Amino acid sequence: MSVEAPYDYGVFSFASKAEVLDKAKAYWNPGKTQFWIDSGIPLVIDRREEYFIYDMSGKRLIDTHLNGGTYNLGHRNPEVVQAITTAMQHFDIGNHHFPALARTALAEALIASAPVGLTKVIYGSGGGEAIDIAIKTARHATQKRKVVSITKAYHGHTGLAVGTGDERFSKLFLADNPEDFPNVTFNDLEAMESALQNRDVAAVIMETIPATFGFPLPAPGYLRRVKELCEQYDALYIADEVQTGLMRTGELWAITKEGIAPDIMVSGKGISGGLYPIACVMVAEHAAGWLTEDGFGHISTFGGAELGCVAAIKSLEICSRPETRSMVHYLSDFIGKGLRRIQADYPDWFFGIRQNGLVIGLEFDDPQGAKYVMRHLYENGVWAIFSTLDPRVLQYKPGLLLKPEIAEELLDRTEVSIGRAWAEVKSLRGSR
Ligand SMILES: Cc1ncc(COP(=O)(O)O)c(C=O)c1O
Repeated sequence: MSVEAPYDYGVFSFASKAEVLDKAKAYWNPGKTQFWIDSGIPLVIDRREEYFIYDMSGKRLIDTHLNGGTYNLGHRNPEVVQAITTAMQHFDIGNHHFPALARTALAEALIASAPVGLTKVIYGSGGGEAIDIAIKTARHATQKRKVVSITKAYHGHTGLAVGTGDERFSKLFLADNPEDFPNVTFNDLEAMESALQNRDVAAVIMETIPATFGFPLPAPGYLRRVKELCEQYDALYIADEVQTGLMRTGELWAITKEGIAPDIMVSGKGISGGLYPIACVMVAEHAAGWLTEDGFGHISTFGGAELGCVAAIKSLEICSRPETRSMVHYLSDFIGKGLRRIQADYPDWFFGIRQNGLVIGLEFDDPQGAKYVMRHLYENGVWAIFSTLDPRVLQYKPGLLLKPEIAEELLDRTEVSIGRAWAEVKSLRGSR
């Protein structure tokens, strides 16, 4: 390690964290870099292992954001690292035009694990692309164009996916198109029925629990009724399980807990093991017609990269183990109880806990409440992020394999941070 470049990473090096931040603004993304600096979170992730990330300064954080579940199995999960490292002796990305070993093996494993009725797999390189594939598939199958989503939906930022979401992101690039992508209020069945009743809708796309909107829970029976309405009005049901799938709710796919067999289901983030990008669309036979009509209908060089498939096969296998399920049930109970204990001390501030397994949203009584808590958590050794489309709510997503002693430490740190955030908010209110 040279004195001029104490941060030496082999193929590149930096002299200081300040240098990284300056160059990130100059060459990468000034808006995003400045946002985090202004938010009191000048994080540049350096070391990462298990459920810990370390800032360049050496500061350790328990990662309770996990990039929306990308690191469900921890950072650099040794079993996934081993699987990819071994596979690299033989495989590369592969050629997307041909039938392929790892792509076929993953497709078979996914279909064996998927809700009943899903029979084909199509690959993307990320969640947004996979959502685009799901929408294209629904449009081809129904020969209709409209896709209904909920207000404040978030399904990614690619061409079609961004159209389903909040106009903050679609308007920026002139991709807002309410005619083709109407929104309805979450949990409002009347609104859903009136959006569908003209029979001109290709699909309803739904996150099983809408993450970026702060994990509002579907009312009992709501999603099942939406599926029935889809059947009644000849629309398909696309389940976005990018954040809720892969055992996070204590079942492999959250949608099966709702008793729904979707027509199309999307998985992303965690299926990569956090190590090799890949996303998957599972499709029922009645929606999969284009794969026969023109198998070249969706082309993606990196979609279904064979090394990504290896990461996904291993990640899916780990998520499916009975001991992983047991651990998620144990942690959900332990962390849920701990959060309710903390909540009892701050009823006027920490007023809600939204929980389905390890999908957890913490509600605070301030329009920007979760941002205060996020910063105090950061200062106190925990990384958890506010919900972009409802900043009252903190996304709190502990890892599936978190050690019980770290879960306990997480709760201790959370308790202190919620108290400090409340003290800050009260003093700000007093000074207004
Ligand atoms: C529910 C959901 N769907 C889709 C996506 C898009 O995934 P990606 O960022 O991999 O394109 C996201 C990303 O946050 C998501 O949360």
